Amino acid sequence: MTNILTGLQATGTLHIGNYFGSIKQLVQKSNTLRPEDNLYLFVPDLHSLTADIDHAKFYDAVLDNIRIYLASGLDTTKPNICTFRQSRVPAHTQMQWFLSCYSYFGQISKMTQFKDKSSDNNQNINVGLFTYPILMAGDIFLYDAEYVPVGYDQTQHLELARDLAIRFNNKFDQPVLTVPKSTKDQNIYFGMDKPLNILSLTNPLNKMSKSSTDLSSKILLTDSPQIATKKIMSATTDSLELINWDWDNQPGITNLLQILSLVTDTPTAQIIDKWRGQTRYGDLKKEVAFSIGQFLTEFQIKYKAVTDEVILQAVAKGEVIANLQAEIVLTRVKKVLGLIK
Ligand code: TYM
Repeated sequence: MTNILTGLQATGTLHIGNYFGSIKQLVQKSNTLRPEDNLYLFVPDLHSLTADIDHAKFYDAVLDNIRIYLASGLDTTKPNICTFRQSRVPAHTQMQWFLSCYSYFGQISKMTQFKDKSSDNNQNINVGLFTYPILMAGDIFLYDAEYVPVGYDQTQHLELARDLAIRFNNKFDQPVLTVPKSTKDQNIYFGMDKPLNILSLTNPLNKMSKSSTDLSSKILLTDSPQIATKKIMSATTDSLELINWDWDNQPGITNLLQILSLVTDTPTAQIIDKWRGQTRYGDLKKEVAFSIGQFLTEFQIKYKAVTDEVILQAVAKGEVIANLQAEIVLTRVKKVLGLIK
């Protein structure tokens, strides 16, 4: 049995980094799932409370994430494919408390995402932001998930989850929690060289980020092809005037080549062969814009076709399954903790 799980926050519309870094890998696996495997794609709505969100719009934003999952090809009518809202499964917060008592302050303090988010000009440094990786580890454990498709920015949290599971199992001298696979094994399973990191179009030293207020830095899954074209044509590159695959010296150009490879489902080696040595950045940008435009058009047709009724049916089914599964693991944990017999 293999369990696969991932989650994407509804704190702003999802972008192509989220899609290729996480959703696509999971949906691809969903097509070759064996009957004994299980696949979970959920909305971590409790995680989003750590951010400054628009609470009036949040309920619908969460359901819109599910719309994106369904538009991406997740077939929730299959018995072993499940989509749900984290807050509808109370086991998550209980699990977080249990794990918190076995997590070391020093280790959690090293999480780079917390350091970044709590840096200088951020006023909203709440405790939830600090304990967030523990909640995330619990998300993974409750479904005995070994494979967790995430982008580069979440790999440290995934490694932390591995550490917590190993330490917890050692303490109780039995395999209570399923240990997620290492980043290396995850990459092999999802057919990647390394976790994906799509960079910002305006500042290719940073990742493309949902929380960035600079809309030109990212291609949203809901952007029209025209808007996307504008963003790509004005993407920051460099002054070398030579196309090359070089993350260190030409991150902007390399990012465009990476996007082209992902969006056209063409191996990077083939894309590099075609473009290396060419000098006209505009030509590369035009090709990226064309391919992204095609991708967005097709995606948005599917997105618009997902009705509210289908979304509500999917979560109604998913939340029953998720609660049953999560309770099994929570009971295992409560037993070793001596809370129940
Ligand atoms: P979130 O919502 O910030 O991002 C969702 C997924 O998108 C990936 N991602 C990217 N991948 C490549 N390039 C980018 N520029 C890029 N930006 C984002 C993220 O790595 C992620 O996979 N903590 C998680 C949500 C979460 C979760 C979980 C994930 C909560 N519990 C349990 C897996 C398992 C987060 O905030 O991701």
